[in-house]
Amino acid sequence: MENRNLGLSQISVPVVGLGTWRRLEAAAAAGRHRELIDTAIAVGIRLVDTSPMYGGAERLLAETLDGTRDKVVVADKVWAPSLEEGVAQLGRAVDFYGGRVDLMQIHNLVAWRAHLPMLEAARDQGLVGLIGATHYSAAAFPDLAELMATGRIHTVQVPYNPMQREVEQTILPLADELGLGVLLMRPLGEGTLVRRRPSPAALAPLRPFGVTSWVQALIKWGLSDPRVHVSLAATAHPERLPENAAAGSPPWFGPEERALVLRLATAH
Ligand SMILES: NC(=O)c1ccc[n+]([C@@H]2O[C@H](COP(=O)([O-])OP(=O)(O)OC[C@H]3O[C@@H](n4cnc5c(N)ncnc54)[C@H](OP(=O)(O)O)[C@@H]3O)[C@@H](O)[C@H]2O)c1
Repeated sequence: MENRNLGLSQISVPVVGLGTWRRLEAAAAAGRHRELIDTAIAVGIRLVDTSPMYGGAERLLAETLDGTRDKVVVADKVWAPSLEEGVAQLGRAVDFYGGRVDLMQIHNLVAWRAHLPMLEAARDQGLVGLIGATHYSAAAFPDLAELMATGRIHTVQVPYNPMQREVEQTILPLADELGLGVLLMRPLGEGTLVRRRPSPAALAPLRPFGVTSWVQALIKWGLSDPRVHVSLAATAHPERLPENAAAGSPPWFGPEERALVLRLATAH
């Protein structure tokens, strides 16, 4: 398990990253976006995921990384139906993040055949580090597997939590076989799983694993799969980041602890 490697020298994995879908803009609405990113860096979060699909999140992230850009891996996306628009998005992202995007993902596989050669050329020019692809729906996993099998991407980003486990069927085994990095979206089920909080007594067997809360149990559940590299938990609340980040450290759950979290998450 300690052999997990994402191919990004800036970070050692597995690790908790920060998602920005809706939450960075929510933090900004409360005047707390800079505090959110500064706190993330302070508690050891070293990867932030964003997209042109997330409203103003890309720009907000760029503004808040003023002076701290080198401390985080930026995972951005191309989300465009045409090559022309994809080129423009990449250009904006490169400008936002100091001339380089560490991981550029094809969002929801949109026009991936058009964008992939463009991203490969950008990587050859040093504008992009790694290339990846994302999808939120199991219905798209056959297409994602087809792209993975080309050997032309380095990472996939997929949903994985106790309520959404379809990736266990083909995507995780294939990623493992091909040596691809795996980023988890929705580790907290977009917040749904957070609200299924069990009693402290039910969580007691997880204490020896450093788990002091249900959110930590959920994050650690995903990262304890040895095929996983990054868990992208999103929050608009800086004060929640120490709790989330702490779940990214060993010891990892074994089969018994993972089974317990599954039972607790699906008990209601
Ligand atoms: N197709 C794609 O590429 C795709 C699709 C979906 C997601 N993603 C990526 O994956 C990231 C994560 O997914 P997600 O944002 O959908 O869902 P998530 O991380 O599973 O859940 C986020 C929710 O959990 C809550 N939360 C986080 N930490 C908490 C804590 N310590 N205590 C209580 N509540 C907590 C947040 O509320 P508060 O803000 O109130 O704390 C928010 O409502 C996204 O932000 C995005 O970067 C990518």
